[in-house]
Amino acid sequence: ETIEWDAADAGKSGYDHYMLKEIHEQPTAVRQCLSERVSGLERTIDVDSIADLEPPARVQFVACGTSYHAALYGTRLLRERGVTAQAFLASEYDADSVPVDEETLVVGVTQSGETADTMTALRDATSAGATTLAVTNVVGSSAARMCDHVVYVRAGPEIGVAATKTFVSQQIALALVACELTGTYDDDLVEALRALPDQLQAVLDESATRDVAEEYLESDAYFFIGRGYNAPVALEGALKMKEITYKHAEGFAAGELKHGPLALVTDRTPVFAIVTGGANPRKTVGNVKEVETRGAPVVAVTDGCVDVERYADHVLPVPESHPALTPILANVQLQLVSYWVANRLGRSIDKPRNLAKSVTVE
Ligand code: G6P
Repeated sequence: ETIEWDAADAGKSGYDHYMLKEIHEQPTAVRQCLSERVSGLERTIDVDSIADLEPPARVQFVACGTSYHAALYGTRLLRERGVTAQAFLASEYDADSVPVDEETLVVGVTQSGETADTMTALRDATSAGATTLAVTNVVGSSAARMCDHVVYVRAGPEIGVAATKTFVSQQIALALVACELTGTYDDDLVEALRALPDQLQAVLDESATRDVAEEYLESDAYFFIGRGYNAPVALEGALKMKEITYKHAEGFAAGELKHGPLALVTDRTPVFAIVTGGANPRKTVGNVKEVETRGAPVVAVTDGCVDVERYADHVLPVPESHPALTPILANVQLQLVSYWVANRLGRSIDKPRNLAKSVTVE
């Protein structure tokens, strides 16, 4: 008797795709990222090589794709702690046109540590005298080797081209970096970080995303809106949808809806609204009403902080957490919706057309 064995399937642990496996590995990824870096007893956060870094005058992030969305998230974490921070798409970074000097910390956020645009930006920053930090998943990668400091996000290998678990690991790593750089130990945040793996697991176990995906399979376009910490997650939700379903999707800060995108909203364009505590939920509900009036199906991803249910066709719930972490839980729901849409459409989920895991050309 012989058993059919496909080498390519060997690493999928029973999941149909690496992407689905990696989505389910997110609780573990968070645990690994936190491991031995946070001491509740001593009330300290210690992150690898950045312990000796002086608080910089300013921080500039350079990154591409999903990593850029993590960088946007990172800027908010730092600004809330009093640090001037900006995120740049690495391909748009120009050391001549931004204030970059010895007082500047330039952080390259890059899963692979090999993305050409990010490497070029980091080189420019180095020439301009900045201190550089790589936040990467790959030990010994080019970014890790060329930067003055490196923080590993410890997500484990990611095979699916569309980044999933590395995004959450980058976000957690950046939260730790923000605390370490500013010498702040935030009890609420630490407590919420510790609870996060189990909460992620709960979202994975109960997700109703398959039904939502099924219902909106035929839609012309998908929109994603959120404010504050949820704005980068809206961008990421749309990026995942584009990458793996080949459908038109757009994400934006909810307040921008009325400045253009609203013209595209019809009863064939589902709107995914991320409505969580601490991210101006009432204002986002206002935006939800605007699209609902125009007949758009609304999927609310919410922790129940305000009543958005009455305007929503579907609710994808997330547990309550720290305002900086609820978006991470919401993101899982969006990852799964995209996955199930792509799955039903029979797309090449782990290796979408025209895309590469690591882009080494500019
Ligand atoms: C490619 C991948 C994306 C990724 C981007 C940045 O385009 O397909 O998933 O977000 O590169 O990659 P990096 O390794 O720098 O995070």
